[in-house]
Amino acid sequence: MYIGVDYYPEQWPKTRWAEDVRLMKELGINVVRIAEFGWQLMEPEEGVYDFSLYDEAIELLTSNGIKVVLGTPTATPPAWMIHSYPEILPVDENGVTISFGARRHYTVNSGKYHQFTKKIVTKMAEKYGQHPDIIGWQVDNEYGHEKSDRSYGALDRAAFQCWLKEKYQTLDELNQQWGTVFWSQTYTDWSQIPTPRKVYQEHNPSLLLDFDRFCADAYTAYNKLQVDILRSIVRKDQFITHNFVFTDQAINQWDMSKDLDFVSFDNYPVWGGLAEPIKPAAIAQQHDLCRSAKGGKNFWVMEELSGAQGWSRIGYLPRPGHIKLWTYQAISRGAEAIVYFRWRAAQFGTEEFCHGILDHDGLPKRKYEEVKEVIQELKTFGDEWINASYEAEVAAYYDIENAWAWGIQPQSDAFAYKQEFLRFYRPVHSANVLTDLVTAADDLARYKAVIVPIYFLTNSEFTEKLKQFVSNGGTAILSYRAGVKEENNFVTGQTLPGALSEFTGIQIHEYESLQTSQQNMVVGIKGTIKGQESTATIWCDLIEPTTAEVLAEYKGCFYEGTAAITKNSFGKGTVYYIGTALEDAMLDGLYDDILAEAQVDTFKTNGEVEVVKRGQFYSFLNHSTTETTPVKLPDGTWKTAATNELVKGELMLKPLQAVVLINE
Ligand code: GAL
Repeated sequence: MYIGVDYYPEQWPKTRWAEDVRLMKELGINVVRIAEFGWQLMEPEEGVYDFSLYDEAIELLTSNGIKVVLGTPTATPPAWMIHSYPEILPVDENGVTISFGARRHYTVNSGKYHQFTKKIVTKMAEKYGQHPDIIGWQVDNEYGHEKSDRSYGALDRAAFQCWLKEKYQTLDELNQQWGTVFWSQTYTDWSQIPTPRKVYQEHNPSLLLDFDRFCADAYTAYNKLQVDILRSIVRKDQFITHNFVFTDQAINQWDMSKDLDFVSFDNYPVWGGLAEPIKPAAIAQQHDLCRSAKGGKNFWVMEELSGAQGWSRIGYLPRPGHIKLWTYQAISRGAEAIVYFRWRAAQFGTEEFCHGILDHDGLPKRKYEEVKEVIQELKTFGDEWINASYEAEVAAYYDIENAWAWGIQPQSDAFAYKQEFLRFYRPVHSANVLTDLVTAADDLARYKAVIVPIYFLTNSEFTEKLKQFVSNGGTAILSYRAGVKEENNFVTGQTLPGALSEFTGIQIHEYESLQTSQQNMVVGIKGTIKGQESTATIWCDLIEPTTAEVLAEYKGCFYEGTAAITKNSFGKGTVYYIGTALEDAMLDGLYDDILAEAQVDTFKTNGEVEVVKRGQFYSFLNHSTTETTPVKLPDGTWKTAATNELVKGELMLKPLQAVVLINE
């Protein structure tokens, strides 16, 4: 297994390098990622290339048995380039040109930038493409991150117009598909179409959704441009990947991954300004996205946090145990390599407070020892764990275009896409049910249940697959606002939930958007949730069952007694509809019944213990920083993966403890 660090030799005097490498070897790492921000060093002036610094660093690392992953440096176009060709800079929605001075300051639609990219990538590929100890490439760094996904300048506008011409062929068709008759927006020439820059009110939602699709396609093409060059030059066994961040920016990780050998991911459960880590389910969901974005293939964590992070504000200090816990969580959900960010905290630059395994003083201390212990234990597992497969019984539908549609029209001040997606994913995480994230392209037949959270922007292919899946005996869980939008971002003309009405056995004639300060109540009337109450926030669909039975209803509002949660039979299967944002406790009770009926394997634990099965390996991860928590082991022979000791009956997990057992 590869386990390593992100290293920036250019940020340290060469006199320190040997000590760094000595400490890395002692730590037990076998790979480093370097060079992803090193353009100025590699091309100090236009057309002049100098790889001497990286040559030296690579030589030192590889002669000490450490393999190298090289980053292409295109996230940081150098000052000379921007000075000579300022048209490379992106432009924000207010028409303000983003300045040189940080990173990601390029528009993906600049032809000039493509030329520079081609040259530097070609030079690097020619230089390092045959090196025996360079094992692969990371293209660019975190596409679209830090708001670099959308650019609204003249070059972008021209490219957008071309993209639209290709998509719609005629202006009549575009006008039709966007409904431009509204507010006199009909275009009579392609060149009239704007990028969605600042307006007094809000842009046409169909234009906005197409703009997001266009931005994502432009990035996919830009990535492919680099990948194609690398593939045409480098050794076949050097891999090509990209380190994604899975936010809802205008990047389509699924499309882009088709051009990559595997997906990589930067895992930061805490960051600048956060007082505590994001929820374990939120971290888990990101790993599930990584694994699912390339059809279940193992992924790399190219940056795994090892210390407190932040630029001008520093976030939560990861507690002793967090490094191991988060590392094991990633591996158990499909990671096959872990690269810790960063080797040592920088003394200068924007990231002075991004702490690493070593702090500013460069001395091996608590975090160094923790990583060492993790590496030593991982070595005892061999590669069996990372070669084992993760087999999910449940899937959750995730379509990045749906996330964009919600971003365009959140419909309530209280709505946040990530948080709401998580609301309906978390209960399966908490029941320790293995879950994949699927798109319309995936086959649903192998799952027992499919969760379809906040299915606002519909996809006709997926809707058909879902119906088929349920008619054949599957279980579907839909949530509020399902079936509202057509693919061009128009609202359906059918009674809600539109194409899903017969499927769910309900109709929705009225609904209410609740703002942050507002809430209703829901009371369960059947099953485990009978008599249980929950707040209803963000959104209330007033459900009128046609064939569905009612599991819960609203209370304390003018629609008191109206259905809030329903269950319907469709073919051989069952469809649930949850019409509002419920509290965790009620969702847990509801999902308990649903999962039991769908015969999904659950593994109930107390407190904040997560259990993940990957092949024969079970990870027991206690996310609590304070509670020692017992876990009752099911029957069978259980042994620790590290030491082969037998474990019987109960496993006692200390705060933040991570243990891997083998079940035989
Ligand atoms: C990542 C990025 C790294 C560094 C890190 C800081 O998003 O890829 O270059 O900025 O965050 O935490």
